[in-house]
Amino acid sequence: MENIYGDNLPRMQAVMDEVLGYIREVRDQLKAKYGSDPVEHCLSRIKTEDSMREKCRRQGLPETEESALSVIHDAIGIRVVCAFLSDVYAVRDYLISIPVLTAVEEKDYIRHAKPNGYRSLHMIFRHTCGLYVEIQLRTISEDTWAALEHNIKYKKEIGGNTALLVKELKRCADELASTDLSMQTLRDMIYEENNTDLKG
Ligand code: GTP
Ligand code: MG
Repeated sequence: MENIYGDNLPRMQAVMDEVLGYIREVRDQLKAKYGSDPVEHCLSRIKTEDSMREKCRRQGLPETEESALSVIHDAIGIRVVCAFLSDVYAVRDYLISIPVLTAVEEKDYIRHAKPNGYRSLHMIFRHTCGLYVEIQLRTISEDTWAALEHNIKYKKEIGGNTALLVKELKRCADELASTDLSMQTLRDMIYEENNTDLKG
């Protein structure tokens, strides 16, 4: 069976590297401005052939290059985990300003959290070459929660008191979100103070 991505893998890798380069640029800019790295870590992947085929089947799509690259938009995926909420939006704004990237979808699950408490900013960009890149941006706290929730959700042995579990997870997500707001306030205070000092 032919690879679902056809002969596009090198092109996909190149686009992923290019976008990672833009993320490096905005990191450097924000580091110069605020004195600390806005990005705690950044992960990238090309969806494996197996999971792309599985996703096509799940969505009732034919297992073709067209489905994998043009109908489904997360063959190339990047997750940017930021220190502060303001960094999430600063990275977003920078990416929006890149001429070869067009934002075709933006789902702000930070301003509008999912009912389970999931928070993250999901962007889909189309590169001028025609390939799509999904970028998930979130804070360290949001990432911690998502990792734990994912871990729990996929542990099959969980039966018991599911309703309590869901409720507690939601409570943790909301507490983490509140902590993110406090941390942002602290960071803004420190930045203001330093800038006032510099101005004399
Ligand atoms: P898919 O792209 O098919 O997954 O669906 P979608 O585009 O309708 O979903 P959405 O944009 O909401 O989510 C896409 C990705 O975000 C998922 O593959 C996960 O990586 C992540 N995600 C979304 N919701 C949750 C959640 O409740 N918990 C966790 N841990 N991750 C989530
Ligand atoms: Mg999606």
